[in-house]
This record gives sequence, structure tokens and C-alpha cells, in this order.
Amino acid sequence: MIIRKSAQEIETMARAGKVVAEALALIEEHLQPGITTGELDALADEFIRSHGGEPTFKGYKGYPAATCLSPNSMVVHGIPGRLKLQDGDILSVDVGVTLDGFVADSAWTFPVGSISTDAQRLLDTCKAALQAGIAEARVGNSIGDISQAVQRVTEEAGYSVIRSLVGHGVGRSMHEDPQVPNFVSAYRGPELKEGMTIAIEPMITAGGPDVYIHDDEWSISTTDGSLAAHFEHTVAVTAAGPRILTETGVLVP
Ligand code: MF3
Ligand code: CO
Repeated sequence: MIIRKSAQEIETMARAGKVVAEALALIEEHLQPGITTGELDALADEFIRSHGGEPTFKGYKGYPAATCLSPNSMVVHGIPGRLKLQDGDILSVDVGVTLDGFVADSAWTFPVGSISTDAQRLLDTCKAALQAGIAEARVGNSIGDISQAVQRVTEEAGYSVIRSLVGHGVGRSMHEDPQVPNFVSAYRGPELKEGMTIAIEPMITAGGPDVYIHDDEWSISTTDGSLAAHFEHTVAVTAAGPRILTETGVLVP
């Protein structure tokens, strides 16, 4: 069942989304060779709580941290800890905030120090895939239009979309209907209606589409060891067009 949100509920989600965006910016500011993922998580945790939010991920199905921090070939759900970042790494940072009963969820893959041109092209492509997906989040389109845009941008650049991980509705809880795949199939998914709020999140790799779960039962990495990128925004479908709730709240023209 898809839960559509009122204009007022969307404003609450935008406030949660502002805390998410600022927590991501805070992590970006502190990203440098030598810092540990545990230190970055602590910064975000304290920032979120001091801005009236709760880190949504902490305690979710027993997840132990406020953020997911996934380096290099790790796609998502990396558990922060003693890992020290190195020059040339990329780090996927995923943050969720619950505020006044509503959730916003966003992710960004950042460079650590200076990265290869190949790695930079992967990040640029993933971000472009997200933007193309968001542009399709319009009343009257279907979820499949978003999926198709993400897949097209990714595959035209020679990369793979991961099929076993998908975006999702978000709002009253972190995961709501509908699923938002990053690839198309015969089923185009539900039609988009005003008030739907979805997390669009391309997860792409420089190699093949297959992934595996580590022994910690959370971290997910590419099977072939290729680099992975993940960009995610929480987006509201409004009469005026897609509204990104985890950025500056601007409308996509
Ligand atoms: N953004 C991720 C997702 O949509 C975050 C989940 S991490 C978890 O699945 F630990 F909370 F599960
Ligand atoms: Co998500």
C-alpha cells in the first residue's frame, strides 16, 4: 500500500531532509586520509541528535550505527568502525533521519583526497543517473520511467546497475511501498501520484552487477571487486514537479 503525504507532512519530511543533507555535508568536510569511519559516524550521530532528529538506521533490525559507510567496492550497509580512509578511496555515505515522526534518506559517494579519473567518472555517472531518475518523478509517469532513466544513463556510460537492491517509498517509515528498481522490466510499477514520497537510489558498479553479503550480515560488496557508487535523494511527487527533500528543497524544472 502506497501512503501519500499531505503538503504539511511533506514539509516535515523536508525538515528531516535538511538535517540529512547537513549531516552529509558535515561528513564531507571531515573526509580526509587517516580519519576512521567510526569517527565520521560519531560526528553524524551527534549532529543529527543535536538538530532534533534521531538517526533512523540505528537499531533498525539491529543495525549498530547512525550511518552506513561503504568504501570502494562496498556498495551499501558498511558498518562504521576502525577502518582508516586512504588517499584515493571513494566512500559511499548513507544517512537517514527521523524527525517528528517522518523519515528522510539520502546517500552520496565522496572522493577521499585525489581519486583516479576512472573513479571520478563512475561518481559523475551515478549522480547523473540519480538526476535523470528524479526528473521522471512526475504525476502521470510510472515508477518504470524513473527506473528506465537511471538504467539508461548508467549503461550508456558502460557501467552496471545492481538488481538485487532497490529504492523505496519513504516517509512514515524508512521503507514503504513502492519499490523503485534501477532497471526496467515488463512491469512498469505503479503510476506516480501527487503526495508520493520515494527514495530514488542508483547503486551502480564499474564492473558486473553481482553483489554478496559479508559475514557481518550487513555489508554488501561487488562480487568482482569493481568499484561501486551510490547516490540517493528522498523526492516528493508534487503538482509542480519533483521536489528533492534531502537537498535545498528546490523544485526540478
Ligand atoms: N538507505 C538504506 C536503505 O534504504 C539504509 C538502510 S541501513 C539500515 O536501505 F541499517 F538501516 F538498514
Ligand atoms: Co534508501
